Amino acid sequence: MKNFCVIGCPIEHSKSPALHEAGFVEMDIDATFEAVEVQPEDLASWVRDELPNYQGVAVTLPHKESIRELLPAETEAASAIGAVNTIYREKDGTFIGTNTDGLGALKALLTLGTSLEGKSVLILGAGGASRAVTFALSKSGADVWVWNRTADKARALAQDMNVNFLEDWSVVPPENIDIVINTTSVGLRKWESLLPEDFWRPTHIAFDIVYEPLETRFLSDAEAAGAQVITGDHMLTYQALEQFRIWHGVELEAEVMNAAFFER
Ligand code: ATR
Repeated sequence: MKNFCVIGCPIEHSKSPALHEAGFVEMDIDATFEAVEVQPEDLASWVRDELPNYQGVAVTLPHKESIRELLPAETEAASAIGAVNTIYREKDGTFIGTNTDGLGALKALLTLGTSLEGKSVLILGAGGASRAVTFALSKSGADVWVWNRTADKARALAQDMNVNFLEDWSVVPPENIDIVINTTSVGLRKWESLLPEDFWRPTHIAFDIVYEPLETRFLSDAEAAGAQVITGDHMLTYQALEQFRIWHGVELEAEVMNAAFFER
């Protein structure tokens, strides 16, 4: 029997156990997945004393950054993003920190069936979620532009990831943009969007990482204009699918985790 968990604080609302348990059932894997609350001041002792009991660990707020220095090694994705959301074990037992958030977002986009090569992508926001999404997109062949309310943060992020900085999104004709990703918290439990209704075109793809509500104003406006939309639950389920692939070496059908997301 293999043991897995998600650590965070608070943790009771985490969907990770449900998503991964659905995968265990589907693939007939003998494993457990628990949610463990770890206070920030207890993180170092938890890593020292408890981590060895697990085959893999999902890491969520507020530990994604602080756990890095407690792990013996990390992947290029974790270093570039500056955060760890997944810990796995090498064959020799060494724990490695990595980050599946960006790759998850990228895979969610690819489900629409269009290649990202040469596509013009506008990323709104320059916080932690944006770092993950921008990192993955920067390696996809897309032409990536980052905008943020606090311009200096977008400028620094764009430089770090070798993508373009956009001071004012309104100077770019909407027709020149293919995909818009909202990585900010604008729209979270509030009917508001960073973009005006008349920005949207039927050619656009809109992806919102906010999932409360699932139909944000950003996506609602885009859909009303005939654009394709990707709801925020996809960011969560696709990053978990990537974790599942790393931990178990198998590709799980997205539908299994999508169904589990809505079950509880
Ligand atoms: P996360 O880890 O979820 O990305 P974060 O690091 O706190 O959270 O980042 C929040 C993002 O939402 C930032 O890009 C923030 O913009 P600032 O850097 O200017 O603060 C953005 N954001 C939050 N509220 C916003 C608002 N009302 N208008 C525009 N951007 C907002």
